Amino acid sequence: MGTVEATRNEQAATATEGKADALTITDRRTGRVYEVPITNGTIRAMDLRQIKTGADDFGLMSYDPAFLNTASCTSRITFIDGDKGILRYRGYPIEVLAEKCKYLEVAYLLLYGELPNKKQYDQWVHDITYHTMIHESLKKVMDAFNYDAHPMGMLISTVAAMSTFYPDAREVHDPEKRTKQIHRLIAKMPTVSAFAYKHSMGMPYVYPSNALDYCENFLTMLFKTPAESYTPNPTLVRALEVLFILHADHEQNCGTNAMRSIGSAHTDPYSSLAGAAAALYGPLHGGANEEVLKMLEEIGSVSNVPAFIEQVKQGKGEKRLMGFGHRVYKNFDPRAKIIKRMAEEVFEVTGRNPLLDIALELERIALQDEYFVKRKLYPNVDFYSGLIYQAIGIPTAAFTVLFAIPRTSGWLAQWQEMLEDPEEKIARPRQVYLGPGERPFVPMEKR
Ligand code: CMC
Repeated sequence: MGTVEATRNEQAATATEGKADALTITDRRTGRVYEVPITNGTIRAMDLRQIKTGADDFGLMSYDPAFLNTASCTSRITFIDGDKGILRYRGYPIEVLAEKCKYLEVAYLLLYGELPNKKQYDQWVHDITYHTMIHESLKKVMDAFNYDAHPMGMLISTVAAMSTFYPDAREVHDPEKRTKQIHRLIAKMPTVSAFAYKHSMGMPYVYPSNALDYCENFLTMLFKTPAESYTPNPTLVRALEVLFILHADHEQNCGTNAMRSIGSAHTDPYSSLAGAAAALYGPLHGGANEEVLKMLEEIGSVSNVPAFIEQVKQGKGEKRLMGFGHRVYKNFDPRAKIIKRMAEEVFEVTGRNPLLDIALELERIALQDEYFVKRKLYPNVDFYSGLIYQAIGIPTAAFTVLFAIPRTSGWLAQWQEMLEDPEEKIARPRQVYLGPGERPFVPMEKR
């Protein structure tokens, strides 16, 4: 054994003695040995900075494009075990919450950490119900959109515009003012979403009604017309309630990361939430539910499924099976299981959606095909949700809006947690610069 190596091993042994929860790193560039503590299964990236080749060296960084293996925060809200297909809000399994709760109960749980007792729940429902109206000038903002504006584009812009109506929202460190914005946002998202739908249909807006509960009220604002009375079907109301619970939070996904990142600059919650909703809009994220329906319609019949699967496989990532795959779940998405079961209940009321047979066949083939099996691609939350939305009568373009409404409580819970975190700082990643070094400027006539 050479001297250097022996010294390294001795150093390493000394470093780890009596300290099991530590990582010993040997820098082969210098032969130096470092000890980095391990807490909660992580090392702190800042602990790598001490690893330098010399005084001028900036220090070691970790490189992790798309945050594949980086925890950006600690959180006590949502737990996911992607390999086992487990999802829990504040410790409660999603299956139990979906079966036993109403959406607003779950929203309270996400925000305050405990399920509400009767008194707390009644007060919470009252606070939300009495904030569902939107300012008439905000309605005028919505009127200005083109007749064929995408509902998500309208939602994102209108939520951002809301920040101009509530200047006190900028006081993000005042807990009382924060609570006010939380009430407003959870209450007004369905109103703005329903108005966006009515606008796209060229129909008059239907104002919220305090006599109705959260989901009944939303369906009524969507489907009631001044000419006719409307009573939402209880099975459809319950289906919506369950879908809202399933979509309420999902830890540090793209949209939530945007909410925390924008919020870390102490931006008001309306502007931050508009940014989170913009992330959700993307077809790889919440926009996938819309893409699934387009895909099923494009496939057209069960007999075309094998050819479509072949195209996806040949496309090598260019063409994807929308509603399949997940960054975290490498097993069944537990939400997809619940939605698939619920689809049957909904179709008993609305009649079977013919696209369901195409979806079932896609799932059957994909779950046996080596391409999907090897990559651990399973149906995700968006695979079956669109079929239910369509059965309820919601147009495809509005599907992602139906994701954004319940995710509002998750975004706000994560935003609040971030602001109260003593380690909170403005989010600002590093980069690895690979561009040119300093070079002489060339005047235009010489380029
Ligand atoms: N269809 C076909 N191949 C896929 C799919 C898919 N849906 N998803 C991933 N792959 C392949 C991908 O081509 C890659 O193959 P290879 O190793 O040969 O390059 C491999 O699987 C790993 O994919 P990845 O892109 O590295 O995985 P990721 O974790 O970065 O992406 C994802 C996750 C959800 C963006 C991706 O699975 C996807 O694009 N799915 C379709 C869109 C979708 O349904 N999104 C909704 C996600 S759930 C709700 C939400 O987040 O809002």
